[in-house]
Amino acid sequence: MGTIKKGLIAAALLTSALVSTSANALFGSSNDELKLGYLVKQPEEAWFQTEWAFADKAGAKYHFETLKMAVPDGEKTLNAIDTLAASGAKGFVICTPDPKLGPAIMAKAKSYGLKVITVDDQFINAKGKPMTDVPLIMMAASEIGYRQGQELYKEMLHRKWDVNTTAVMAITADELDTARRRVDGSIKALKEAGFPVERIYRVPTKSNDIPGAFDAGNSMLVQHPEVKQWLIVGMNDNTVLGGVRATEGQGFTKDNVIGIGINGVGAINELSKSKATGFYGSLLPSPDVHGFKSIEMLYHWVKDGVEPPKMTQVKDVVLITRDNFRAELDKKGLGNLVKK
Ligand code: GLA
Repeated sequence: MGTIKKGLIAAALLTSALVSTSANALFGSSNDELKLGYLVKQPEEAWFQTEWAFADKAGAKYHFETLKMAVPDGEKTLNAIDTLAASGAKGFVICTPDPKLGPAIMAKAKSYGLKVITVDDQFINAKGKPMTDVPLIMMAASEIGYRQGQELYKEMLHRKWDVNTTAVMAITADELDTARRRVDGSIKALKEAGFPVERIYRVPTKSNDIPGAFDAGNSMLVQHPEVKQWLIVGMNDNTVLGGVRATEGQGFTKDNVIGIGINGVGAINELSKSKATGFYGSLLPSPDVHGFKSIEMLYHWVKDGVEPPKMTQVKDVVLITRDNFRAELDKKGLGNLVKK
């Protein structure tokens, strides 16, 4: 072999060594350990932090490394997939920042041969239809929403409020299917229980966070100064918290507001406050199961070729309030989330 050729091979080897060294430096692991990504749209939410923590538990059990990445928008999502491929990952679990990114995410993942499992929010295609061929693990949205409506009604009866001076503030996010189904389920339960349809008011939020829901709630409150008591419906804890904060701004308190969130883990700070607020409680599903099971299914798919089911719905849910939240979180192994 000529000296020049030998030199080229050496240079090529050196380059690839450098690439893998920098990947190791970036992700801090040995090259032979399997790597799987876990990409979430809103890492600031306790829900997604819990999923990550349980994905790590699955990694410890099966000896793979979970590369946890925040993907708040489309550009970051597509970049994250490039980074995953460069690091040698074999697939990823994702809660997309926008369901419409589904086709672009799948095209990029396929170009690298990466396997994909979606969690929480389902992809939709260019025609706006759900991409049912991509495996999905999510909460049973309509059922859990329905439970929210039932619990709100029950608590209203318990307080013996006059239904004629009570209204429902339903903060919606209809472009997100799971949100639409939860809120519709909740309203269905309220109607079936006998709550007057004409006082169920819907208002869309501009963003799925507390400030967005706060603005939505405020715009509704100014339109209905006649209402004496409010029941607050929303797709998750932050949405309902935003609504509750808006009522407080208008002088409402725990005595004339009942808000029940969904997620549970996003309600811990509120329920831990020394004084009760209008945020009565939250429905706690299973972020632990979502986090563990989604990446466990991905692991078996990559490692053993076991294809995951196209749809896994997690139905278990428990109402947590100031009275029982510590005990219920403990039961799920989430007690460490509560500040002692
Ligand atoms: C959506 C919401 C999250 C959480 C998950 C649970 O992604 O934005 O707050 O409720 O669903 O599936």
